[in-house]
Amino acid sequence: MTRGRKRTGWTLPFLYFPPTWVLVACLSPGPTRTVAGDNAEVPHYFDTEQQTPSQPRQIRLRLRDLEVPLASDAGVFAHARVDAGTRFLLRRAPSPPPQGDILDLGCGYGPIAIAVGLRAPLARVWGVDVNARARELAAANATAAGAGNVVIAAPHDVPDELRFAAIYSNPPVRIGLVQLHPLLTRWLGRLHEGGAAYLVVHRHLGSDSLARWLRGEGFATDRLASHDGYRILRVQPRTAVGDDR
Ligand SMILES: C[S@@+](CC[C@H](N)C(=O)[O-])C[C@H]1O[C@@H](n2cnc3c(N)ncnc32)[C@H](O)[C@@H]1O
Repeated sequence: MTRGRKRTGWTLPFLYFPPTWVLVACLSPGPTRTVAGDNAEVPHYFDTEQQTPSQPRQIRLRLRDLEVPLASDAGVFAHARVDAGTRFLLRRAPSPPPQGDILDLGCGYGPIAIAVGLRAPLARVWGVDVNARARELAAANATAAGAGNVVIAAPHDVPDELRFAAIYSNPPVRIGLVQLHPLLTRWLGRLHEGGAAYLVVHRHLGSDSLARWLRGEGFATDRLASHDGYRILRVQPRTAVGDDR
């Protein structure tokens, strides 16, 4: 009589209090590539060469102090409209230093690099991305916007000796922590003394644990602003771990 109900006592607690491995699997930032059902690899916006067929479109970045038309395309991040996190970063992060080298790590089609370049015309702004299609768009967008101080480059084309007065970035969190952590330490390690990085990361993509991890790595990190789950993390140059100065 009770045959069909026998397992209920186990199923309900499982649904309400899933075991740790289920939580870990759900919350993990995931692998860098996904394999589709037919075994074809799903393209990502952070692939170096895009296989996704081109679908050019025009979008606009609208901020209080500037409005910039941007060419976008399939196969790049936020191709249909400027990302909400990116807009939040550009509205709320402090103004860029007036001169020196500034980095946009993961520039996509260029909204951050171009806005920063227009706001700091005497600075040189490096927009760096692994995605070749994104770099082409960003370079054309910078030229069209009259931001002649924006240099778009592949990561290995940025001279090693350059140090940055500031970094503004909507970083590629979806590449997975295994790749994100060394990427961040590599570029944040190139901040000038007295400089700062401003990273926008959504709470659902691990902004708070990322802030803790950065602190543990010796980068003083605080939350500058928060809106709709997006956090702007302010990261200062590294001090030796355990250095209390
Ligand atoms: C979240 S998107 C932000 C794009 C753009 N800044 C924006 O706000 O629309 C992150 C970008 O980082 C790029 N990226 C991924 N891995 C990278 C790496 N190792 N070095 C530089 N850029 C990378 C991706 O191709 C992507 O364009």
